[in-house]
Amino acid sequence: MTGRIFVTRRIRDAGLDLLTEAGVELQVWPGAEEACPSRAEVLEGVRWADVVLSVLTESIDREVMETNPRLRGVANFAVGFDNIDVPVATELGIPVSNTPGVLTDTTADLTWALLLSAARNVAVGDSYMRGGHYKAWGPNMLLGEDVSPGGDGRQKVLGILGFGRIGQAVARRALGFDMRVFAYDPFAREAIEADEQAEWADLDELLRESDFVSVHTLLSDDTRHLIGERELSLMKPTAYLINAARGPIIDEAALVRALRDKTIAGAGLDVYEREPAMAEGLAELDNAILLPHLGSATRGTRNLMATKAATNALAMLKGERAPNCLNPEVYDGEAYRKRTG
Ligand code: GLV
Repeated sequence: MTGRIFVTRRIRDAGLDLLTEAGVELQVWPGAEEACPSRAEVLEGVRWADVVLSVLTESIDREVMETNPRLRGVANFAVGFDNIDVPVATELGIPVSNTPGVLTDTTADLTWALLLSAARNVAVGDSYMRGGHYKAWGPNMLLGEDVSPGGDGRQKVLGILGFGRIGQAVARRALGFDMRVFAYDPFAREAIEADEQAEWADLDELLRESDFVSVHTLLSDDTRHLIGERELSLMKPTAYLINAARGPIIDEAALVRALRDKTIAGAGLDVYEREPAMAEGLAELDNAILLPHLGSATRGTRNLMATKAATNALAMLKGERAPNCLNPEVYDGEAYRKRTG
C-alpha cells in the first residue's frame, strides 16, 4: 500500500509491525519515551503525512489539521479524544478514530488499585517502610477506612460518575466488596436503571451518599470542572474521590484545598488538570495517591490499542471507513471528497 503515516510517539511494535507489513512509508517521532514532539515537529510530521497516528499528549487542533490539505485521517491511540478538535476535523472532512473497548478492564482494574490504595494507605505505607519508620507494629498505625462492610458492618457506597464501558466495569468489581453502587450519567439513565447492580442517583445525592466517588466521564465542555468546590463540600468528610478519566473534570486547586482542610478524607488520581504538572500543594499531601496516567498501561492492552489504532490508520489511508470512526458523517461530505479525491 502506498502512503505516509506519521506516528507522534513510539507505540508498541504490535501496531508498528502492522503498518510496516502493509508497506506504508512510516515516520515515527524518534524522541525519548518520556518526551513529546514539539509543536513545530508535530506540524512538520503532519505536513509530510497522509494519515496521523496520534497519542493523547499531542494537541491536534485547527492549525495542525489545516497545515495539510491532503490529510486523510487522525487515528488516536486512546479511547479519550479530547486532544483532538473533532468538530473542526468534521468541518475539514477529516475522519478521526479512537481505541474503544480494549482498555475497559485494564482501566477499571487501575481505578480499583487507586481506590484500595487510598482507603488503606498503601502508598503511604510503602514510603513509611522505605523511609525506615517501621520500628514496631502499632495498634493505631496508619489506620484507613473499610471498603467491604468489614469493621463497622456498614455496606459502603460507591458512586460512579459516567456509566459508560469503564464506569460499568468498575461497578461490576464492586460486587466482590459487597458495596452498594450509585451511578449518575445524564446520557445513560436507561442503562443505569436497567442495570442489576447500580442505582440511579442525581449528582448531589450521589456525592452526599457515597463513601467512594469515582469519575468515568469523557472530558467535554459539559464535564469540565464537574467536581468543584461546591461538589467537594457535599461529600462526606470520610469519603474518597478517585479519578482515572481526565484531569480537568475536577477543579484540582479546589481538590487540594478540600484535601488540606479534610473536607474529604482522600483522593486517588491518575490524571491531572494540567498534565503532567500538578496543582500547587498536591504533591505534599499524604491523603492523595498520585499515579502518572497508568490507566491502560499493561503490555497486553497497549498491544491491543496499538493494533486498533494502526488498523484505523490503514483504513483511512485506503480511503475506507475507519472501524472506530468518531465522526462517520465526514464520509458523506464534500470536504472529505475534495481532500481524498
Ligand atoms: C487513556 O487515557 C485513554 O483515553 O485511552
